[in-house]
Amino acid sequence: VIAGASVGLGAAFADAAAGHGFNVVLIARRQEALAVTAAAIEARRHVETRRLVVDLADPAAGQAIADATADIDVGVLVYNAAAEPEGLFLAPPLAGYRTNLEVNCWTPTVLCHLLGPRLQAKGRGAVAIVSSMAALQGIPMFTAYGAAKAYELILAEGLWHEWRAHGVDVLGYVVGATASSTFRGAAPDAYDGVAGSNPGAQRILQPASPEAVAARLFERLHLGPRQYSHDDDEIKASADAGLPRAEVVDAIGRVTSRLARFQSR
Ligand SMILES: NC(=O)c1ccc[n+]([C@@H]2O[C@H](COP(=O)([O-])OP(=O)(O)OC[C@H]3O[C@@H](n4cnc5c(N)ncnc54)[C@H](OP(=O)(O)O)[C@@H]3O)[C@@H](O)[C@H]2O)c1
Repeated sequence: VIAGASVGLGAAFADAAAGHGFNVVLIARRQEALAVTAAAIEARRHVETRRLVVDLADPAAGQAIADATADIDVGVLVYNAAAEPEGLFLAPPLAGYRTNLEVNCWTPTVLCHLLGPRLQAKGRGAVAIVSSMAALQGIPMFTAYGAAKAYELILAEGLWHEWRAHGVDVLGYVVGATASSTFRGAAPDAYDGVAGSNPGAQRILQPASPEAVAARLFERLHLGPRQYSHDDDEIKASADAGLPRAEVVDAIGRVTSRLARFQSR
C-alpha cells in the first residue's frame, strides 16, 4: 500500500515494490495520473494493482483506506505523500497549516493505528514513513513542513521499537534532494557564502533519481529505525549533529530563503 503514488517518488516506490513481487495499492488524488502509473507497473512487473482516489488531507482518509484494503493481506505500507506549505510562516492563511497536519501527521498516524494490528496479527510486514532532511532542524521558509516531517520521523522510530517484538519492521526514511515531479532545485550559487563543505552540504544541486531512492528504501526497510536515502545525507546529518543548533538553522536558512521561488515575493 503506497500512499501518495501517482507520480514522483511514490510511483517509484510502487514500481520497486512490484519489482519485489508485491501487488500494489496506489493512492493519490489524481485519477488519471494513478491510471498511467498503474498501467506502467502492470505492464512492466506483471503484478495486480488497485487504485484508490483519496485526498489524504481528509480526516476520514485513513479509515477509507483501511476499509478499501480490508480484503487484502497487506505486507508493506509506505506513507509517502506530503503537503508542503512554503514561504514565511505568517504569509499563507492558517488553513494550509491544517492540511499540513492532516496529510503529514494525522493520516499516517491513523493508517499506522488501523493497519498495525493487521500486520502484528500476522507477525510480519513493514511500514515505511517517508520523512525528509527538512525534519532534522528548523528550516526557514518551510517551517511547518519541517516540523511535520519531524513528527513522521519520530513516530516511525518509536513504532520501530514497539513493533519489532511483533515481527513488524518500521522505518523512518529520511529523504534528501530527489528529482521527483515537484522538485525545483536551487540556483547554482545557492550555497555561496554558506559555511561548511561536507559531502552532503550541496546535495540540492545534485538530486538523486526517484528510482535509486526507491530501491534503497526496500534494501533498508528491515534495518530501521532511521535510514537515509543517500550516503551523503547521512554524513551531513552526522556532521550537523555536532554543531551548535543556531549554526545549523542559519546555514539552511541562508539556502532556503534564497531559492528562486521566493525571490519575486
Ligand atoms: N523530492 C525531494 O527532493 C524530497 C526531499 C525530501 C523529502 N521528500 C519527501 O518525499 C515524499 C515524496 O515527495 P515527491 O517529491 O515525490 O513529491 P511529489 O512528486 O509531489 O509526489 C507526491 C505524491 O503524493 C501525492 N499526494 C500529495 N498530496 C496528497 C493528498 N492530499 N492526498 C493524496 N495524495 C497526495 C501526489 O499525488 P496527487 O497529486 O495525485 O494527489 C503524488 O503522488 C514526500 O514525503 C516528501 O516530503 C522529497
